[in-house]
Amino acid sequence: MTPAVSPAKLRVVVVGSGIAGLYAAALAARRPATAVTLVTKGALEQSNTWHAQGGITAVTDQGRAAGDSVAAHVADTLRAGAGMNDGAAVRLLCAAAGREIATLDRWGVPFDRTGGGYALGLEGAHSAPRILHIGGDRTGAGIAAALIGQVRDLAGAGQLQLREHTAVSGLLRSGSRAGAGVTGVRLQPAGTGGSSGAGTVEELPADVVVLATGGAGQLFEATTNPAGATGDGVALAWEAGAVLSDLEFIQFHPTLLDPAATGGQSFMVSEAVRGEGALLVDSAGGRFMPGSHPDAELAPRDVVSRAIHRRQRELAQQGLEPVVYLDATVVAAAKGEQFLSRRFPMIDATVRALGFDWTRQPLPVVPASHYWMGGVRTDLDARTSVPGLFAVGEVACTGVHGANRLASNSLLEGLVFARRAVEALDGYRTAPAFAAQPLAFDEGDTACTAAGIQALMTSAAGVARDGAGLELAAKQLAEWTAGPGATPDAGPDNDTAALLTVARLVAAAAAARRNSVGAHYRTDFEQAPAGRGHLSFVKEQDQP
Ligand code: SIN
Repeated sequence: MTPAVSPAKLRVVVVGSGIAGLYAAALAARRPATAVTLVTKGALEQSNTWHAQGGITAVTDQGRAAGDSVAAHVADTLRAGAGMNDGAAVRLLCAAAGREIATLDRWGVPFDRTGGGYALGLEGAHSAPRILHIGGDRTGAGIAAALIGQVRDLAGAGQLQLREHTAVSGLLRSGSRAGAGVTGVRLQPAGTGGSSGAGTVEELPADVVVLATGGAGQLFEATTNPAGATGDGVALAWEAGAVLSDLEFIQFHPTLLDPAATGGQSFMVSEAVRGEGALLVDSAGGRFMPGSHPDAELAPRDVVSRAIHRRQRELAQQGLEPVVYLDATVVAAAKGEQFLSRRFPMIDATVRALGFDWTRQPLPVVPASHYWMGGVRTDLDARTSVPGLFAVGEVACTGVHGANRLASNSLLEGLVFARRAVEALDGYRTAPAFAAQPLAFDEGDTACTAAGIQALMTSAAGVARDGAGLELAAKQLAEWTAGPGATPDAGPDNDTAALLTVARLVAAAAAARRNSVGAHYRTDFEQAPAGRGHLSFVKEQDQP
């Protein structure tokens, strides 16, 4: 065991360096008598947050659209979430936005401004422009850079320990019975991309572990997420006996620049581009969104992604090129040649580097896994069902997003619930009880790869799912192991092991929800009544 920092201090380990992890660490390190260690499997900059373009939703007094209100933000969030949200969590989220934005402002986050107030963008399913941004389309990097500055300063001042390129390969607990609290983390050096399997295992004792590990976009072939988004936190929490909820709800972003047209490179084109007037057209040149939803291109993301997926299939059946395009040429025509490069400098530079002049040609796009609404179930203070284990950001299921997240609500969620977690740290010994169904998986014995898992999940658990496909996927997943042999040179790979665990969980949840709601679309239960009950699972042996 690594020597404890000081027995008198509350020992807090934060895992992950996206917005929620950085903010939680920076706030916790300011508390008296708290020893904070921030562990991340890559560098601090390697997070999903860093790539966020569109922005962060906030209705504040320093810039709000005429007629907009916190209540309208609440209503839009509930509508996008298809009624599956926790109303109390949503109200808390929306009302807290002003406070968190003010803190970021004080910490030097350079939000774009116009006429003294915040510049506001519009995204799908928002009834008013209320998306704050930085550098046009570098919002995530702008926020993360400021938070990383805070964290590095705190580390420099000895108020926080930083462990980059270090993977958490297990949570230590005071026993294996249900109700046993966390006592620390097991650490291993992480390789490129965060994978691990080699190197000395170390145990770091802790009173509190805050999971802030992000999502699992890497479950699918097409994703907007970076390589490290392998569901690690959910897999760790599952092994530790925490209740997991809403795992079937995975959001697909409608407009990833088609990797088939970029030589395999993945690049998301922000929904804010549609907010400025860009349209979706098919390979025959026609729009198809007006027939799919009254809000057309600005419908909720699940609706838009499904419509693209459906249109691609129809085009193929008609013998046409099954390609859908994001047409921003109409924006350039209406707002001027220079508008796109001014408003979206990073997207402009990137699509041009990939060979597209988007002021003159539409961009081929595909839906891609983007955000996991489900995760480790928490209460409103980010406490999980395991004493001492908190979860914040995408890894958590706070109930804020319901069955489909409203665009640009996730950065805000990361801030609001990270603060709530830090304010609740002293009560770490108690944990909420959540009802959950026990679930057990047998370990298979055929070595698997991340690419194999991605191909299987894309075909069986992507934008459209059905019972037969999910059953086959579950069978295949059950035959696989990510244990020794999966990566013969390096031993078991934590990333592949986490992916396999979360793939099995998603397949089980998607099979169990026999209706279509929000981002979960079952072609065999398209019209079934939208049951509103939540699906929650806990690893069998950890049941009381
Ligand atoms: C985007 O810019 O389209 C992504 C924003 C989000 O996922 O909230």
